[in-house]
Amino acid sequence: MRTIRIGLLGLGNVGSAVAEALRRNGNHFAVRTGAIPIVTRVAVKHIHKPRRITVDPDLLTDDAWRVLRDPGIDVIIEAIGGVEPAASYLTEALARGKHVVTANKQLVSIHGAHLRDLAASMDRVFAFEASVGAALPVIRVFTTHLVGDRVRSITAVINGTANFILSQMELGQSFARALAEAQARGLAEPDPADDVTGRDSAAKLAILTQLAFDAAVTVEQIVHQGIDAITAANIDRALAAGRRIRLLAVARRLNGSIGAGVFPASLPLDHPLARLDDEENGLLVHSDLAGELFVRGKGAGGVPTSSAILGDLASTVVAPTASRRALQKIDIVPLSTIEEDAAVVAEVEE
Ligand SMILES: NC(=O)c1ccc[n+]([C@@H]2O[C@H](COP(=O)([O-])OP(=O)(O)OC[C@H]3O[C@@H](n4cnc5c(N)ncnc54)[C@H](OP(=O)(O)O)[C@@H]3O)[C@@H](O)[C@H]2O)c1
Repeated sequence: MRTIRIGLLGLGNVGSAVAEALRRNGNHFAVRTGAIPIVTRVAVKHIHKPRRITVDPDLLTDDAWRVLRDPGIDVIIEAIGGVEPAASYLTEALARGKHVVTANKQLVSIHGAHLRDLAASMDRVFAFEASVGAALPVIRVFTTHLVGDRVRSITAVINGTANFILSQMELGQSFARALAEAQARGLAEPDPADDVTGRDSAAKLAILTQLAFDAAVTVEQIVHQGIDAITAANIDRALAAGRRIRLLAVARRLNGSIGAGVFPASLPLDHPLARLDDEENGLLVHSDLAGELFVRGKGAGGVPTSSAILGDLASTVVAPTASRRALQKIDIVPLSTIEEDAAVVAEVEE
């Protein structure tokens, strides 16, 4: 079986969850893709910092260039964040013929088109599913599933920290404590100002708008308002009226232009985006052929983000729809109810 030799940049919330996911699900990944993933080198900023996970010290370096220039590495997974030096790192990686997988929305919103072109010219993969919505499959909705559709509108909740804060405030928590809790759970951005001012959602909306409408839109063109001015009184008033405040990111095809913005909105409880709790994200898309689609799931946190990264990693070795696993003979247990049956679930998980 072939191997995928990985250079991992960053060992924070996302990087350490990726290292752990590869350790836990590496064999499963290998059986399904035909390639064994091996973390060959790991770059961090502070080499002596105590870590949640144990990594072979021989793999660690505080010089990312050594990882990028290592001819033995096939794929760079970038989980450091920020525009620079990440953009220079990933340009170098692609120019050296490595595949690149990133979770970095600030970088993708600004340099995504250029990096995709560079990857195409090198016949390499530049994959960024984890940059929007963590575990939610939202990038591929536009790059594969709806590629033949004309998208009319996107209405989304794409910041897990903001949704977490709003959910906690509905339970009586203060804004400051809810934000501190989001940070402690590894949901917030390294600079949480981006989460609460709406800039993080704007960067993600820029990415989705580029993909959905082929529009060269930048984060600076997206008017954004965050949740930093939302008070407990605003939350209570909305709840009393049977509504929930959610931070929306909206893009719509208009006559000859695209409307786009990020703003808090008070939604009726039966709206799909009003039902999102804590760090959940949701994406509602209207398009001419598919009609309405809705994707919902965990939109922040290292572990859900590692799910998208492993999916992207697989795309460097196998076509997205083609799992290589031979079908297994397995008993089928008849179900006649949607009630969860613990015994059945346990049997399936084994
Ligand atoms: N957290 C989430 O829920 C989430 C979800 C989706 C996407 N993302 C994205 O994932 C990325 C990482 O987020 P995070 O939450 O994991 O951040 P984090 O916990 O702050 O981790 C950042 C990591 O990058 C390392 N680093 C920073 N600059 C570096 C450099 N120049 N060279 C090598 N290593 C460097 C840091 O090293 P030290 O540990 O030594 O300081 C740290 O390990 C960001 O782009 C973020 O937007 C995060």
